[in-house]
Amino acid sequence: MDTIINKSTISQELSCTDRSSHAMVAMAPAAGLVLASLAVVLATTLWKAAVHLVWRPYAVARAFQRQGIRGPAYRFFVGNNEEVMAMRAATADDVLDLGSHDIIARVMPQYKAWVASYGKIFLSWSGYTPSLCVGDHDMVKQILSNKTGLYAKPNPGPNFLALLGKGLVFSDGDDWARHRRIVHPAFTMDKLKMMTRTMAECAGDMVRPWEALAAASDGGVARVDDVGQQFVELTADVISHTAFGSSYREGKEVFMAQRELQYIAFSTMNNVRVPGLEYLPTKINLRRRQLTGKVRGTLMAIIRERQAAAKEAKGYGNDLLGLMLEANASAGAGGQKAAAISMDEIIDECKTFFFAGHDTTSHLLTWAIFLLGTHPEWQQKLREEVLRECGGTGTPLHGDALNKLKLTTMVLYETLRLYGAVIMIARETTADTELGGVKIPKGTTTMIPMAIMHRDEEVWGADAGEFKPDRFQNGVGRAAKHPSAMLAFSAGPRSCIGQDFAMLEAKATLAVILRRFEFEVAPEYVHAPAEFLTLQPKCGLPVLLKLLGQ
Ligand code: HEM
Ligand SMILES: *[C@@H]1O[C@H](CO)[C@@H](O)[C@H](O)[C@H]1NC(C)=O
Ligand SMILES: *[C@@H]1O[C@H](CO)[C@@H](O)[C@H](O)[C@H]1NC(C)=O
Repeated sequence: MDTIINKSTISQELSCTDRSSHAMVAMAPAAGLVLASLAVVLATTLWKAAVHLVWRPYAVARAFQRQGIRGPAYRFFVGNNEEVMAMRAATADDVLDLGSHDIIARVMPQYKAWVASYGKIFLSWSGYTPSLCVGDHDMVKQILSNKTGLYAKPNPGPNFLALLGKGLVFSDGDDWARHRRIVHPAFTMDKLKMMTRTMAECAGDMVRPWEALAAASDGGVARVDDVGQQFVELTADVISHTAFGSSYREGKEVFMAQRELQYIAFSTMNNVRVPGLEYLPTKINLRRRQLTGKVRGTLMAIIRERQAAAKEAKGYGNDLLGLMLEANASAGAGGQKAAAISMDEIIDECKTFFFAGHDTTSHLLTWAIFLLGTHPEWQQKLREEVLRECGGTGTPLHGDALNKLKLTTMVLYETLRLYGAVIMIARETTADTELGGVKIPKGTTTMIPMAIMHRDEEVWGADAGEFKPDRFQNGVGRAAKHPSAMLAFSAGPRSCIGQDFAMLEAKATLAVILRRFEFEVAPEYVHAPAEFLTLQPKCGLPVLLKLLGQ
C-alpha cells in the first residue's frame, strides 16, 4: 500500500513540475534557457562523477597492474576506507610485550597486510584517490629531494586548514620558499642555544613537584600517573615561552584553543570529504569558527604589540616570533615587499609551531622515558654522561654542554626510529611522472610509511626490530645502509625546520630528569602505541621516580 501511495504522489508531483515548467517556458524563454543549462550542468556533473568514481580508478589500477604494481581492489566511492577501519578496529585492543617494538600491526595494520601481500610498493585507495605506498628508500629520496613542485603537499582539508592555515607545513612552491626564508633564521643553532635556559627552566618547574612527592614518600619514590601528560604540558610551556617571550600567557591560551581544534580535525579525519560541507552551521563547524577567531585575535594582538615596540626602537625580541618579524622586516627592506610575509601568514606560522612542534616533541620525550625506563643500563650510561658534561643539579644547563651529549643523542635517534611521532607522510603528484621506473599519473598520493621503513631489515640489518642506540654511534647518516634511512624528521628541503629545537629541548629535559632521578616504568603500564595524529601510548605512561642522592 505504502509504495503505491508513494509512487502515485511522486508521479503527481512530477507532472506538476512538468506542467509548471512548460508554463514557465511559455512565459519566459530565458527561464527555459536557465533550465536547459541546469540540465547541462547536471549531466556534466554526473559525467564527471562517473569518470572520477568509476572509470578513472579502474584505468589507474590497470595501468599500475601492467607495471607489476598491485594492491587491494577499489570499491565504489569508499575505496579501501572501510577495510582500513575494520582492520584498525580489529587490532585496537592488542597489547605488546614491553620488549617488543613491533607497532605496525597496531597502528597501521592495513599496511602490514598489504606489504605482506603486495610488497613494498603497492596501490591502495583512499576514497577514490589512488594512493601509492612507496616503501623504498631510493624512491623516497627522489620524492623528498625533488624541488620542481612535482610532489606537492596534499590538500589537508578544511579541518586541518582551520588548524594551521597555510603555514610552512601545508604551503607549496614560491609561497613555501618565501615563508621558509623568514622562519629559518629563528631556528639556527646560535638562536636556539639562547633558548636552552628557558627550556631547562620549564623542565625544572615540571620536576619540582616530583621531587617534593618523592621526598615526602617513604622510599623516596614519586609516582607520576602519566608522564606523557606532563610532557604535553611541558612542551606547551616551552613553545609558549620560546615563541612569545613575555606574552607566553596569551600564547598558552592560543595553544589551548589549538589543542581543541586538533581534536576536531582528528575526529573527522577518516570521513570521505564532500566539498562545501564545512560551510554548514553544524555544531562542530560553529565551534571551529569560534576557536579559529580566538586564536587569530589573540595572536594579532601579540604581533601588534611587537610592531609597536619595534617602532619605538625596542627591537622585535629574541623569541621565535620576534626573530620572524625581524627577518620579515629585513626581507621587506629596500622595497622588496614580495619577499615579506603578511600578518595572516605570520599568524599561520605561529599556529604551525604549536601543531608541528608540540605533540611531536612531547611524545619523543615520553617514548625516550619508556625506553630508558625499560633499559636501565642505558639510563645509567646517560646519567653518567649528563653529570660528566653538564655537571650536577646545581649547574645551569647550556646549549654547548647539551650538544656534547653523544650517547643521549644516540638514544633520542633510536627513539625516533622506533617511535617517531610521525609514522607516515604524503605527497601528491602534480603531473604525470615516472619514479624508479614506475609511471605515476597526476593526482596520485604517494605515501611514505616511515614507521615501516624504519624497521626494514634490508636497510637497518637483522636487528632492526630491537632497541640498539649503538647503531647511531657514527652519526645518523651512517646508521643504516642508506644515508637517509632515518626519516623521523623527513629529509630534503622540506624536512622538519624544528628538528634542532626538538632535540635540544629533549636533551635539556632528559638532563634535568636524569641528574635528579632514577626511574622505571610502573608495572601497570600497558604497551599499546596508538596513533592520534601522532604516535603515543594509548593509556599514558605511568612511571616511578626515585630521588637520587638522598
Ligand atoms: C620530535 C619532534 C618532531 C618531529 C618528529 C617532527 C617531524 C616532522 C616531519 C616528519 C616533518 C615533515 C612533514 C611532511 O613532509 O609532511 C616536519 C615538518 C615540519 N616541522 Fe617538525 N617535527 C618535530 C618537531 C618540530 C618542532 C619543535 C617544530 C617547530 C617549533 C617543528 C616544525 C615543523 C615545520 C614548520 C615543518 C614544515 C617544514 C616545511 O615544510 O618546510 N617540528 N616535522
Ligand atoms: C624531479 O622530477 C622530475 C620528473 O621526474 C625530473 O625530471 C627532475 O629531474 C627531478 N628533479 C630533481 C631535482 O630530482
Ligand atoms: C613584513 O614586512 C612587510 C614589508 O616590510 C610589511 O608590510 C608587513 O606588514 C610585515 N609583516 C608583519 C607581520 O609584520
